[in-house]
Amino acid sequence: MYDFLEDFGEILGYAIIFFYSLTILNYIVKLANKKFKTQIRRNKTFADNYMKMMRFIVKNHRYFGFLAILFLLLHFSVQFLTHGLSITGIIAAAVMVLQVVLGIYGHKAKKRGKTWLTIHRSIAVLLLIAIAIHIE
Ligand code: HEM
Ligand code: HEM
Repeated sequence: MYDFLEDFGEILGYAIIFFYSLTILNYIVKLANKKFKTQIRRNKTFADNYMKMMRFIVKNHRYFGFLAILFLLLHFSVQFLTHGLSITGIIAAAVMVLQVVLGIYGHKAKKRGKTWLTIHRSIAVLLLIAIAIHIE
């Protein structure tokens, strides 16, 4: 049972990273769309599929964030039972919760403004660093 929980806890940790990566794609697919506009448009099938993929990533952005939090709660539960607390884990979790709260605020706000986007993007980078330190 303990061996199973050890592996399961680790898989749950990678599930958080998987959904975190999907949230980051929001930035990457839009950037690539801007920088490689002419290249993307060159082939119609490719362009159509690229736009579909981009819409999927942007439309579901918040759900990827919510799924990251769901797996964070599961990872925390298992890791807490098998290893106890992890300071670096708690820090990464705090940054991720902050990011999602900020995301919900931005989503609900009538005007979200450039400052909000800069902060939301910066915390995404901070979160990457916090996760890297945690799994290092
Ligand atoms: C954004 C939040 C988090 C992410 C992305 C994350 C991700 C991961 C991953 C991928 C691993 C496996 C790494 C490896 O085996 O080298 C791991 C291990 C671990 N995590 Fe987390 N985690 C997070 C938050 C937390 C929290 C809140 C706790 C608090 C209990 C925690 C406790 C642990 C522990 C104890 C390990 C095992 C370390 C070891 O075996 O040496 N993590 N985490
Ligand atoms: C792990 C959690 C999250 C990360 C790492 C993250 C990261 C990002 C990044 C990097 C961008 C910039 C994209 C761009 O440049 O256009 C962005 C945009 C945005 N995010 Fe998040 N985000 C997370 C969760 C959320 C959640 C839960 C919500 C809403 C409930 C949200 C709402 C937004 C909104 C409204 C934008 C503005 C652009 C758009 O609508 O796509 N985010 N996010």
